[in-house]
Amino acid sequence: MTVKRKHLLGLEELEPHEIMSFLESAKVFREVLDRPIKKVAPLRGLTVVNLFFEPSTRTRLSFELAEKRLSADTVSFTTATSSVKKGETLKDTVRNIEAMKIDMIVIRHQSAGVPYFLTRFSDACIVNAGDGQHEHPTQGLLDLYTIWTKYKKLAGLRVVLMGDAKHSRVIRSNIWGLTKLGASVAVCGPPTLLPVEMEKMGVEVHTDIDKALDGADVVNVMRIQLERQTSGLLPSLREYTTLFGITRERLKRLNKNYTIMHPGPINRGIELADDVADSVNSVILEQVTNGVAVRMAVLYLLAASEGKNVKQD
Ligand code: CP
Repeated sequence: MTVKRKHLLGLEELEPHEIMSFLESAKVFREVLDRPIKKVAPLRGLTVVNLFFEPSTRTRLSFELAEKRLSADTVSFTTATSSVKKGETLKDTVRNIEAMKIDMIVIRHQSAGVPYFLTRFSDACIVNAGDGQHEHPTQGLLDLYTIWTKYKKLAGLRVVLMGDAKHSRVIRSNIWGLTKLGASVAVCGPPTLLPVEMEKMGVEVHTDIDKALDGADVVNVMRIQLERQTSGLLPSLREYTTLFGITRERLKRLNKNYTIMHPGPINRGIELADDVADSVNSVILEQVTNGVAVRMAVLYLLAASEGKNVKQD
């Protein structure tokens, strides 16, 4: 379980064995989360800064908990209460934070490529917590982990990624991760929300939901990103729900031991029916729990790769 890299910017750049190292390491940390005292010491003495330029509930809290459970010192920054509001550039903000002697930066930003930009002038390990419409690698890893631990494999499974592929960084990270590990991936949504590059990524592309769901093991439902629908790509939410909403009726096409996933936050009754979101086949809250273990694994393995004196308990 080793990874030789300083940063986690996306799953596109990872080798399959590196993805497996993150998943195997997450399995160890997932066990720690079930202990009465959910804390180990491998990042003691290291400082992690969480820079969130976009809203987040799950990812920010999950990283903060992962850092605390690894005994790192941790501080969080959100734009609403920072000097970014006074016109400071991103580069100056990061360089000032780095002058306080920190080791790792977790960053979410509305623009694709910002985590990579930071690597050009920062000495810290950089972890992408979601950059624009590009990637959300730790969400991709926790989705892979959740599927892998349920089915004990990824190769040969049929996974359908439903919804707004145009705006979804989660879909991109899922595609890279799942295809590298041998899963068969289908993307389904309205034609206006299916970018042409999807076809070049080694996945099936469907606009007919029934064809997409036929024989699927896993359906990972993406949020309709209401805040990014500015150019009339969706005629109406009601039409989207009618044509692409995941309902009980539609689940009849799936394989018997099927799984429903969603990265959150859910628009209940739009992309996913209430009773499906809360059904026994839904692993949505398990994804959230697994997210902490996966982020512990990411922070641990990147720090270890940099020779920071860490040991997995
Ligand atoms: N899945 C996810 O990224 O959720 P948040 O936006 O709440 O972090």
